[in-house]
Amino acid sequence: MSTRENEEVKEAMLDRRSPTAIRCCKITTEIIVILIVCGILSLGLSVIIWTVYDIIVPPNVTNTTLEPLEAINITTTTIPTTTTKPLACQKRIIGFFDASDAKEITARRVSKLTHVVFAKIPMDYNGELGIETQESEEAFEKFKSTAKSVETDVEVMISIVGKTSYQEIARNSEYTGEFIYSVEKFLKDHQIDGVDLNWERENYPNNINLLKELRIRLNESQLISVTLPAPPNSGATFHVDEILKYADFVNVVSMGYYDTDRTKTAPISPLYPGSDIGKTLNVNATVKEFTEKVKNSEKLNIVIPFFARIWRNIADVVEPGKEIFRKCQNEFSQIPFSKMKEDGWTKHTTSWDKKSMSAYIYDSETQTFLTFENEDSISQKLEFIKDENLGGLWIRFTDMDDDENTLLNSVTKLC
Ligand SMILES: *[C@@H]1O[C@H](CO)[C@@H](O)[C@H](O)[C@H]1NC(C)=O
Ligand SMILES: *[C@@H]1O[C@H](CO)[C@@H](O)[C@H](O)[C@H]1NC(C)=O
Ligand SMILES: *[C@@H]1O[C@H](CO)[C@@H](O)[C@H](O)[C@H]1NC(C)=O
Ligand SMILES: *[C@@H]1O[C@H](CO)[C@@H](O)[C@H](O)[C@H]1NC(C)=O
Repeated sequence: MSTRENEEVKEAMLDRRSPTAIRCCKITTEIIVILIVCGILSLGLSVIIWTVYDIIVPPNVTNTTLEPLEAINITTTTIPTTTTKPLACQKRIIGFFDASDAKEITARRVSKLTHVVFAKIPMDYNGELGIETQESEEAFEKFKSTAKSVETDVEVMISIVGKTSYQEIARNSEYTGEFIYSVEKFLKDHQIDGVDLNWERENYPNNINLLKELRIRLNESQLISVTLPAPPNSGATFHVDEILKYADFVNVVSMGYYDTDRTKTAPISPLYPGSDIGKTLNVNATVKEFTEKVKNSEKLNIVIPFFARIWRNIADVVEPGKEIFRKCQNEFSQIPFSKMKEDGWTKHTTSWDKKSMSAYIYDSETQTFLTFENEDSISQKLEFIKDENLGGLWIRFTDMDDDENTLLNSVTKLC
């Protein structure tokens, strides 16, 4: 089925849906029931999605070599060099929006950012993009209108997450064509300034060809970024220098280093090693690994998570003197900073791990343990960005901040 036919089908479905919706609205009792059910469903769904999204899946490492591009002969002169509009801030402050709740996408938040990104636009098995549920459609409309309403010069982007891996799209020329066409059309139709490719679960040299083709197709003012996992978690072997020939910048997932180890607590995004075994499991080591490969460190952005890792059933420390590493069972989850505040955790005494420059809370009464970013850990990271001459930071996710934008306000001190 062609894209146009698909769209017609979708439109027809939408048309059919609306009168039903209107009839429903007239019956108040039903509505209340529906709302309650929807509330429970969406809560459940978001928990499931979150869990799935954040479990570290080791990438499928394929032993392939870079195949040459057939149709397109690329020389450096044919690749447009992107010029970004002058920004009030010399550094990038990229706010990803999870957009699980349209209300949380506010002009106040957007106006504090240099780039605003709608996370998780799904890519179908054939490379086609689409927004799926009515709920996310609403959030996307809110995102677009909010981004346009602010007076600041913010770049508006989408991030694409595949239902299938990018490598499946890159392998098949028909799917590659569909993907490139679909991205170009999406950006044009919605007046979006650029696209982020989420390669957190990827490790495939041919993805470079996909990136090249996208760069050629988009015009010079349209941005491309790539989100990459931090070694050594990923086992991935990316050619970051190759990626940066075609991408304007790279967002590094410099967090979650200890996610695969469910037997102990650990800092969520340690700036420096927190223990002897974790010499490479920190932002400093990750950045070193990346900057060794790239000429221009200003193309790299590190992450600031706006959610806390939370563990329950905590036992003793793993080693004496290292309070942030405690034995625990497999009860591990995450909560947005706003929820952390709502639950009263921000009133609790926060401890500071000097080695990893991380904030944590250990509540021995409830045997609960949290690690998260706060003003102090963010401030350390901002200094680090300046010292290492990095491009800036990206936020996962801006809409998880509290109503006062406590974390976002800390982050904007980068400017
Ligand atoms: C990968 O491919 C190369 C060349 O084809 C081969 O020499 C090597 O043994 C392969 N490695 C693995 C792990 O399969
Ligand atoms: C591609 O470029 C190379 C030089 O870089 C040239 O020798 C070759 O003929 C070109 N191929 C095509 C199909 O244009
Ligand atoms: C780039 O493409 C977009 C979308 O088609 C368009 O709005 C914009 O004007 C183009 N910019 C340039 C410099 O060609
Ligand atoms: C940070 O990394 C650098 C290498 O880039 C290393 O020399 C330095 O010791 C590290 N800092 C800490 C506190 O581990």
